[in-house]
Amino acid sequence: MEKMIIHGGVPLSGRVVLSGSKNAALPIMMASLLTDEPVRIRNAPRLRDVRTAIDLLSRLGVEAGWAGEHELVLRAARIESHEAPYDLVKTMRASFCVLGPLLARSGRARVSTPGGCAIGARPVNLHIAGIRALGARVQLRGGYVEAHADSLTGARIWLDNPSVGATENIMMAAVLARGRTQIENAAREPEVQDLARLLNGMGARIRGAGTHVIEIEGVARLHGVEHEIIPDRIEAGSMMVAAAITGGDVEIANAPAEHLDAVIVKLREAGVEISSNGNPGLRVRRRGELRPVELRTLPYPGFPTDLQAQMMALLTQAAGTSVITETIFENRFMHAPELIRMGGDILMKGPTAVVRGPTRLSGAPVMATDLRASMSLILAGLAAENTTELSRVYHLDRGYEALDAKLSSLGARIERVKDGR
Ligand code: UD1
Repeated sequence: MEKMIIHGGVPLSGRVVLSGSKNAALPIMMASLLTDEPVRIRNAPRLRDVRTAIDLLSRLGVEAGWAGEHELVLRAARIESHEAPYDLVKTMRASFCVLGPLLARSGRARVSTPGGCAIGARPVNLHIAGIRALGARVQLRGGYVEAHADSLTGARIWLDNPSVGATENIMMAAVLARGRTQIENAAREPEVQDLARLLNGMGARIRGAGTHVIEIEGVARLHGVEHEIIPDRIEAGSMMVAAAITGGDVEIANAPAEHLDAVIVKLREAGVEISSNGNPGLRVRRRGELRPVELRTLPYPGFPTDLQAQMMALLTQAAGTSVITETIFENRFMHAPELIRMGGDILMKGPTAVVRGPTRLSGAPVMATDLRASMSLILAGLAAENTTELSRVYHLDRGYEALDAKLSSLGARIERVKDGR
């Protein structure tokens, strides 16, 4: 087990380059199951979750491995197993996204249900309703979803809420179905759009990704492709908060500004200076006092739930009362008690957190239960007096590539040590 030790108080400055998007990479890797030809993925992030996906795909018979520092090659010449086992799905929920492609490619799939996780119940009912609508027979047995279909047929599918994973799973099932599928109230996230771009590159016929209605005209087969993953907008937002919370000045070289509208608006409202200088990327600076803001997490293009914890850390430093409402996950304030231990003044009631600031944060031993919560504690540590020790670093390594190296290159005093030192 490793720990991250952070000595706070250093304003970050310099230039940082983002990795490829984790949430785009994972479903894109699963899409390699849809063809027997090689799928070459550039700008793939080196993350624990990507390793887990390689492991899962290998067990299904996919030849999967690194061809370069950030280049993956996946080839599903044959499908040797149709089962995504519990041990992998429980460590990474995105594993559930093999359901659609396995079913489309070979007519059957047995995928463990993920169960709840640290941030909420996270059911998969919409995924299942979607593939049933396409004609699959689905049974739940022994904690597994067992799905069969001699062939899938296009259908009109309405999602009760715009689930990212369900939209992706259904899209991957529908690309090889007979006829036309229409997903209504679809997720509009950039990662969904990236998956559609990959699938279209493989010969699929998908229109409308990025809008509420996605139309898929089924095709008989898909072929190999080369694809470059989009930069990670959540890593971008996290780095923007790192610049802001330390009173720093950071250039994020490849920040996907077009995917960060809601984040830019809220940070500007808080008094953070953000400019693009007409170049790709963003410069993020904070010179004066931070102002409080009100924010609600929402499906894209609203403010992302995956940046809520980081914003809460930042708002402990704003002069006044901020209100954060989490509308996507029911249990996503697990970072708040740890921020309170560091000196934050945060009151939680149901889905709302009231953050009063500015408070002086002081370093403490802290522990987080999920990826983004861990990042919020790192951010608090960067702004705090003295030393913060974050344990369970494996949460961070699931979704941030070389975070300590990137923050160090901006001047942060952060090191990774073996637990027990
Ligand atoms: C994805 C992201 C995750 C992000 C989340 C919301 C990946 C790998 N993960 O997760 O980082 O926080 O989107 O932006 O891309 N729901 C149902 N039934 C379902 C599916 C979902 O009720 O069948 C609910 C969930 O419980 C949740 C909401 O819908 O309340 C949104 O979840 P969803 O968009 O599916 O999130 P994920 O795809 O799991």
